[in-house]
Order: sequence, then C-alpha cells, then structure tokens
Amino acid sequence: MALYTRVKESIAVITLKNPPVNALSTAVRRGIVESLSQALQDEQVKAVVFCGENNTFCGGADIKEFSGSMSGPPLVPMIHSIEASEKLIVAAIEGVALGGGLELALGCHYRVADTNARLGLPEVTLGLLPAAGGTQRLPRLIGITAALELITTGRHISAKEALKLGIVDQVIEGNAVLAAMALALSVIGQPLNARRLSLQAPAWVPDVDYVCEAALARVKQRSRGAMAPVACVQAVRAAAMLPYSKGMEKERQLMDMLFRSSQARAMQYAFFAQRSAGKWSLPNGAQWNNTKARNVERVGVIGLGTMGQGIAVSLVKAGISVVAIEVDTKQLELGKKAVTAMLQRYAQRQGVSSPLHLLKFTLSFHQLRDVDLVIEAVFEDMNLKKRVFSELCKVLKENTIICTNTSGLNVDELAAVTDRQHLVVGMHFFAPAHVMRLLEVVYGSGSSPEAVAIAMALGKRMQKVCVAVGNCSGFVGNRMLKHYMDQSVYLLEEGATPEQVDQALEEFGFAMGIFKVADLSGLDVGWRVRKASGLISPDIDPVKPSRWRFGRRYCPLPDMLCQQGRLGQKTGHGWYLYNSPGSKEAKCDPEILKFLEDYRLKYGIIPRRISSQEVIERCVFSLANEGLRILEEGITAGPEDIDIIYLFGYGWPRYRGGPMFYAAQVGLSVVLEKLEHYHHLQPDVPSLEPSQLLRKLVAEGSPPIQQWKSHIKNLHSQL
Ligand code: NAI
Repeated sequence: MALYTRVKESIAVITLKNPPVNALSTAVRRGIVESLSQALQDEQVKAVVFCGENNTFCGGADIKEFSGSMSGPPLVPMIHSIEASEKLIVAAIEGVALGGGLELALGCHYRVADTNARLGLPEVTLGLLPAAGGTQRLPRLIGITAALELITTGRHISAKEALKLGIVDQVIEGNAVLAAMALALSVIGQPLNARRLSLQAPAWVPDVDYVCEAALARVKQRSRGAMAPVACVQAVRAAAMLPYSKGMEKERQLMDMLFRSSQARAMQYAFFAQRSAGKWSLPNGAQWNNTKARNVERVGVIGLGTMGQGIAVSLVKAGISVVAIEVDTKQLELGKKAVTAMLQRYAQRQGVSSPLHLLKFTLSFHQLRDVDLVIEAVFEDMNLKKRVFSELCKVLKENTIICTNTSGLNVDELAAVTDRQHLVVGMHFFAPAHVMRLLEVVYGSGSSPEAVAIAMALGKRMQKVCVAVGNCSGFVGNRMLKHYMDQSVYLLEEGATPEQVDQALEEFGFAMGIFKVADLSGLDVGWRVRKASGLISPDIDPVKPSRWRFGRRYCPLPDMLCQQGRLGQKTGHGWYLYNSPGSKEAKCDPEILKFLEDYRLKYGIIPRRISSQEVIERCVFSLANEGLRILEEGITAGPEDIDIIYLFGYGWPRYRGGPMFYAAQVGLSVVLEKLEHYHHLQPDVPSLEPSQLLRKLVAEGSPPIQQWKSHIKNLHSQL
C-alpha cells in the first residue's frame, strides 16, 4: 500500500509500504493512485514527495505477480499521471530505486538521493526490459550512449554516479525525504514542462545507427542468444528515432514479446533459485535456519597451486587471515608472488588499503595451531590427501573444521582418517577460485550440521553462491558433466569434429564449447583421474586401445591426445591448435581432423553427418538425466540447486534456466523419448538409460519443476 500524509502546509508525502523493498505490488500501485488523487484534489497541497518506508525507496515490480494475471492500476499510465501532474512531484530516493522504482522516480519532476542509494534498471537480468517508460525516459535524461549501457547491462549504480550522469538532481548525506521537501519548497511555482522527460528530445548523437549497432554487437558477444539485451537496444533506438508516444508503443511491443518468451521465464526462475540456494537443508532435517555457525577469522590453506592461490585471495578479500602452507619451497615462492600480485591489483582497483598483512606463507604445518578452519588444496590424490589430513589432526585445535577442495574424491573416506569426522566437509571451489562464484559445500555421512553451516557462512562471506550437496563421486557438477563429456567424444568417434560440437553448444548458449573448455583446463587433468580410477592401465593395447572398459562404452581419444603431448592451451595444441603454448585463440587443427579420420578407419567406424540437434540432445539430455538421478538419490535438496550449480560453475546460459529447468521446459516426455531412443542405439552407455525419477515424473503428467520436490519425497517414501 501507500501512505498519504500532509507534513507541511503545502507538502504531501506519499510513502510506499511493502516490506522488504516496497515492491510495486497491486496494493502499492492502488495506494499510489489513490494518494496521488488525494494530493491533487487538496487545494492546499502544492508539492508531493514520494518516498519508501524503512529508508528504502522502491525495489521495482513485484516479480511474484508476473506469473498470475495482472490486476490493479498498470504502471505506465500511473507514472504518466505523476509526470503530467500540475503539482510539483519530487522523489526522495533512499536505499534502492531499481527497475519500476527508478521508472517511477523518472516520472517525478525532481530526484534527490541519499549517498548510499543504489539505482538501476535490472529488468534485462530477468529477460525483460524496463517497460514503464524506462527505455524512453532515461535516454531523454542522460543520452543514448549512457542509457544503452545501463539498460543492456542492468548494472546498479551509486548515487554519486547517478548524479554525474544526471539521473538525480541532488545527493545528500542524511535524510533524503527532508532534502526532497526542501528542494520542493525552493522550486514550487516554477514551470514544470522542462522537467517532464516525455516532452524532451534525447540528447543529440551524431550517428544513432552506429551507436546502436555497436551496442548490439557488444550485447551479442556478451550474452550470446539472449533476446532481452537485443530488445533493450531496439527500445532505446526507438527513443532516439521516434516521438515519445511511438517509442512507448515500441517499448510495449518489445515487452509483450519478451514477457511471453521462455527466456524470461527461465531467468525469473533463475532469480528465485539463486535466492533460495543458500537456504540449505540436510536429509536429517538440519537446515540453515535451525543451525548456528560459529565465526571463522583465521583459515589455513594447504597447497598453493592453482586452486590454493585463488582460495587464499578470496579469503583475504573477505577480510579473513590466511596461513598458506606449501610443501615445495619453489612453489611457495611462486604462490606467494601470485597471491600478492592479485591482491595488490585488487587493492589498487578498489582504492582500498593493501590487505597483505592478513597473509602468512610458510612450509610449516605448526603455523596452523590457531586457525579456525583449513581448506586443503593439494594434488587430487587420495593417499596424499589422507596423509595431509592425518598430519593436520596432530597440530590443529580440537574444534578446527577441516575442508577439502577435492573435485570429487570421497569425503567420507578422507574424514575417516581424522579424529573429527563431524568437522570434515568438502568446500569445492571452481577455477579460478577468486573469480568463479560457485561453491559446492559437500556434507559427508558424518558431517555435523554445524560444520556445514560454518562452511556455507564462510562461502557467503567470500561472496560465493553456495550450494550444499551430498557426498558422491564428482559431487553434483562434475558428476553430471562426465556424461556430457562422454557424449561429446562419442560424437567425435561417430563423425563430428571438435568445432562442430563446440559450435552447436555455443549456439545453444554455452560461453564455450566443451572442447575449448577442455583445452583451457588441460587435458591431463582428466587423464590423471582416469588413470587413478583404473580406466587406464598398462595392459591396454597402446596401438589400438579398447573402446570398452568395465563393460561400458569408452572413448580412448582424449587419452591418445595426452599420449601425444597434446594437453591443450598450455602445450599449444589439444583439440585445437594455438599460436604458441599458453595462447588462447583456438584454431581448427588439420592434424586433429586427420587423426580422427585415421581413428575411425582403425576401428572400422563409418563416419556420418551429425546435426546440431543431435549434439544438444545427447550432451544436454544425458547431463539432465544424471541430474535427475542425483535428485532421486537426495544428493541435493531440489532441482534449483542443480541449476544454480550449472549457472554459476559451468557457464550454462542463464536464459535457459539450468539443465533441470531446461528439461522441464522442453518437456519431460520429450526428454524421456529421446533418451530411450539414444539408449537403444547405445545400449553400452548406461547413463543414457532414463532415470527412475524421469519415468515417474512423466507418468505423473510432467508436473512443473516447482512441484518436483514433493514427487521426489513420494518416490523416497515408496522405496
Ligand atoms: P596444483 O597442482 O596446481 O596444486 C597443488 C599444490 O599442492 C602444489 O603446489 C603442491 O606443491 C601442493 N602440495 C602437494 N602436497 C602438499 C602437501 N603435503 N602440503 C602442502 N602442499 C602440498 O593443483 P590444483 O589444480 O590447485 O588442485 C588442487 C585441488 O583442487 C585438487 O584436489 C583438485 O582436484 C581440486 N580442484 C582443482 C580444480 C582445477 O580446475 N584445477 C577445480 C576444483 C578443484
């Protein structure tokens, strides 16, 4: 709702009331219309100040209302009547003015913000555009170029930047509502037409087409295949080229198209999934709101390789003291140099004082005596990790939490060598650990809720998106990825090239195709894992290695590449060719094409043309099928967790929601039918066999993804 008050003889204040962010729900919009009419009718009122309760102006539309049919007064005419008002209207922006909140403020004649306020039009991140005049008023206020940047990125800006851009008229320290009243009193009586943005022409730019084309190229590169940023550019272009009313018409048409799109639904789903990710729960009933996490101030990082360095940087950035341990003197120096340089660059960029005093580098485990938690990031070798865990127990305080950054080893097996199984959890970061947002917090069978709570809270403090997952080989992300990777190499055997597969995946929306990612990470990483798991052994024929291992289809192509020293970018060639070791530009390598031809000849495989559709179906549906198995086993609390893992850890396109959402959107019965088809053709690939949960959900009429949890619960109770 909105509260109407008369504060001074001539000023009325309309306060938006809808905690926590005063979203523009039906009741709030109704309240605004009623309050405004009251103010306009009251002859003594000469000016109106809009503000929000609890020092928060307005967080925008109420997204929960998107799924139902809209009722109550629509935003566009409401904001129009604010702008058209004969009485002066000033927005007092405290906290946030986002989306519809900022559009409301743009309808006011003046805007005052407090220094801590944040402003922005983030609709594009929900697959939409600012459709209450935002795409038409903002360019008229700050020019096409700046408006394009803000609207296509959805970036939030500070009050200071908003003042510089001309979005607000005043920034004040202290009470913005009082400042807005003072401003109102100082300008009452002045003509308002110059303050009505819809009456203004956007600032002239020499070549609108060029500016818009450049913006289009940028958004297409940044978010391949996403419709909303493209529509945002089109709408802003309309503001530059057309009269206001025609521009509004264009804005509405584009919004109608986006609003009905599957992309917008996926992005709104992702928004809610992200919000719920930190609300973890364990099968035993312990969860985020019934478990206390004790504070962590000092952390030990064991191993200063690729991951240890990134983890140390993230911890220090969060203000946490770090003791970084190495076994190798040279690596200690290298790690120290790398971590120091990253932190110095960070301090310089942020204009903050250097946090290096929080770091200690050492070769001695004894320096870990006082830490509250350790994160082990030594080589992926079970025996080595067990030795490290045993050593740790000799020096750590008795309540220190022990975490492992293993990519998929058994957390229970590691915990078993310690004197504190309840305090052992996985903290699986993603490379580069100081950049990637995802953190899988892996609970073992003996992990206490408190240990999980502590790891989740620490991850959150490190600005990570944390998902609690159960202990299984590869955990959630890597376990699913294995099947996606398997299918991609089978496709090469059958006739595809790495470029064809990557192109199909990139057109689907992945930031990078699977073979480019493999070259970037290093092909030897998987090679080592396969050796350790016994898939590669000395008795395998080196000339014509078997294509079946442990009774299943196996593709030896990646191993053969590694044997040739083709390890990816670091060696200058892998699935692709690079100009030099370490260079990043992937080029098609004729040698690989010849190698694949020879391989098929050797095994008598007749190559065939493979469509992009088959690439997507086999790679993505096998991935989703494994996700359903993970749900069936109760490894994650719900499908949203899996989707968040893929959105934040694996470059899954946000406008496709995540693999579980995508499967639901394509139709579970379609996924089932395709998996049955491909499993029939590849009976020696057990992962293609449709999961029990998929069959059950299809049998129950393919319920919406939001209802899967209860179906999974029923499945568990039947087992
Ligand atoms: P790395 O090979 O870059 O670094 C490992 C470091 O551990 C080396 O510097 C080594 O000297 C040090 N080390 C070995 N034994 C030690 C000991 N006893 N005490 C102290 N330091 C010791 O390995 P990376 O890539 O950083 O991986 C570390 C862990 O993180 C592995 O378990 C890996 O599976 C996992 N991981 C790796 C990811 C990646 O993309 N590289 C992603 C996620 C997890």
